[in-house]
Amino acid sequence: MGNTVSTSVIRRLPRYYRFLQELMNNGIIRISSRELSEKMGFTASQIRQDFNCFGGFGQQGYGYNVSELHAEIGKILGVDKGYKTILIGAGNLGRAIATHMNFDARGCKLIGIFDVNPELANVEVGNLKIMHTDKIESFCNENSPVIAILCIPKESAQEIADTLVKHGIKAFWNFSHCDLKPTFNDIIVENAHLGDSLMTMVYNVNASSDN
Ligand code: NAI
Repeated sequence: MGNTVSTSVIRRLPRYYRFLQELMNNGIIRISSRELSEKMGFTASQIRQDFNCFGGFGQQGYGYNVSELHAEIGKILGVDKGYKTILIGAGNLGRAIATHMNFDARGCKLIGIFDVNPELANVEVGNLKIMHTDKIESFCNENSPVIAILCIPKESAQEIADTLVKHGIKAFWNFSHCDLKPTFNDIIVENAHLGDSLMTMVYNVNASSDN
């Protein structure tokens, strides 16, 4: 995939993918960009522009084949890649993410969960046992994970991230309450703040209220 596709288009792709999955589940075989736009709240021209970034996918006037489009977008997203992933911080958030994210369907394979608290060692989360953080280095050497999910307090996030980079981690999904700064240019960081989404919603409530 080229580097010319804008971040905003890439951010819309998971939504298309999820939405097309729902259409497939409902037995819908074909959909026009107009119908898709009505259901998704984007304009039809936005949808066509987005899809044109990847070569079009459909035939004008005839609509898109839902399962083919779903498969194509999945391929672009890399949902079948199974990138080896580890999670650091097996507290409330870490356990929820480890057990509810359906990693396999989203391009990741969760292979290790780590926590600094020795009392959590060997506690099962899903089908994995939590390991103490002192095992991270040997685990990375043996298993070569490429993605790390950080669910630890912000105070230790940057330090852990730098250590993980030294052990071969290439990308972070960071939930710690800080915007992680990649120390090296080729490291990918996706900072995830549920609070930002909440505040966006509150802004809209505020903006629409009469007060
Ligand atoms: P928690 O206190 O339940 O769990 C934190 C876990 O991290 C504990 O098990 C602790 O032993 C472990 N830990 C601490 N330092 C560590 C280190 N250096 N290496 C490995 N493990 C370490 O907290 P919770 O609720 O799970 O939240 C985790 C973090 O995520 C907090 O900093 C919280 O503020 C943040 N958070 C972020 C959200 C977001 O949307 N970005 C949403 C909710 C929480």
